[in-house]
Amino acid sequence: MNQERIADIAARELERFEKARPRSATLRERAAASMPSGVPMAWMSGLYHHPPMFVESGGGAHFRDVDGHDYIDFNQADMSSNTGYADPAVTRAINERAAAGIQFLLPVEDAIAVSEDLARRFGLSHWQYTLSASLANSEAIRLARLATGRDGVLMFDGSYHGHIGETMVGHDGEQAKSYALGLPDDHGRDTAVVPFNDLDEVERELAKRTTACVLVEPALTNVGLVLPQDGFLAGLREACERHGALLIADETHTHMLAYGGLVNLWDLKPHIVVLGKNLSGGIPIGAYGFGRDLADLMDRHLFDHAGDEAGLATGGTLYANALSLAVAQATLSHVLTKDGYARNARLGDKLADGIQTIIDEAGLPWRAQHLTSRAGWLIGTREPVNGGEAVAMMDIDLADCRRLFMANRGVWEAIVTAGPAVSFAMTEDDIDRYLEVARDWVRVLAA
Ligand SMILES: Cc1ncc(COP(=O)(O)O)c(C=O)c1O
Repeated sequence: MNQERIADIAARELERFEKARPRSATLRERAAASMPSGVPMAWMSGLYHHPPMFVESGGGAHFRDVDGHDYIDFNQADMSSNTGYADPAVTRAINERAAAGIQFLLPVEDAIAVSEDLARRFGLSHWQYTLSASLANSEAIRLARLATGRDGVLMFDGSYHGHIGETMVGHDGEQAKSYALGLPDDHGRDTAVVPFNDLDEVERELAKRTTACVLVEPALTNVGLVLPQDGFLAGLREACERHGALLIADETHTHMLAYGGLVNLWDLKPHIVVLGKNLSGGIPIGAYGFGRDLADLMDRHLFDHAGDEAGLATGGTLYANALSLAVAQATLSHVLTKDGYARNARLGDKLADGIQTIIDEAGLPWRAQHLTSRAGWLIGTREPVNGGEAVAMMDIDLADCRRLFMANRGVWEAIVTAGPAVSFAMTEDDIDRYLEVARDWVRVLAA
């Protein structure tokens, strides 16, 4: 791809984007006096590489900015709102719970219904809740450390498990090192990072018998898509058993792809499953599930202020609040249904097939990526097998150019690390519109 041409198109589209959004520009200017980068969370600026627009409202698969532009949302806040904006059943649950109090630091009955439902979907009997998937991963790691008496965390290059100390590390060829600022130099001391799909490297690390847990996304979803090769995930579980480590499946993203996540779709048998994002229709929640043995261990190491012995470091005053759980219950029963997932997968086929057709028509050396309801643009023809290969194939300028082009035509495209994903509120027409705009973008690129 000609990078100059990409830069020219992006510059033209950026000018059009900014010109059509004067109200967002005014709000950004005002916001810069009270918030770094003019946003309440710096990522809202860092993720897009162009000035973000301010949002007014959302409904179904669409949202509207303060300048009156409507977007079909193919990113859904990095898939955390892929259950659709203002879903009627979810909105009802929010209103009813809000009218009856949202937080007591005591359990509500919805917690049982959600845990029972998740137990059926994931085959793990016991569940705990936090406010985000990052926090659920943190607690899952701590539980694994207590269970094994070891500190080590083994993870894979190209994976992302949240902004938590142990996992914000990459591999520099020799050792795990932080890729973010503000963390102590040695915070990745107990973390090892090996290539995805490489069981030999896993074996080498686990044989040291210092690893408490292997933390894995069943498919890498934060570097485009990287699928597990045949036998990789089963081999991981077997190696964990043999070396006394726990396998944690982080299904924060992949839970959107199948009923019961990839754990159910691919019949995986992790010791712990982590969820978050869409589980509660966009209301903050994180969850992790495990079997009775780990539940008993937790019971025996309760964090008890009156007790003499130290307890397991889990919990937070706002975790597992009544609102998160009421909304999770409504989301699971009304949106994340078997029918909903089946419909999404059909729309995902249409989306990925459509992208492949556009690529073929233009004769580009690219490929559509596809895993049920998620698609992607692979800038190459050979599927990457690990994070290193996937990162090397990413073209950030090209993805940013595509997002601006599409935003100007009413389609909100995914952030660079994700692909377009189907939301539970989408229709065939939404997919058709994505493909129409994508086809135009490819034509302009190739002109
Ligand atoms: C696989 C995975 N795990 C954990 C997280 C962290 O989620 P959150 O930022 O909602 O805590 C993410 C976020 O993208 C993720 O993709």
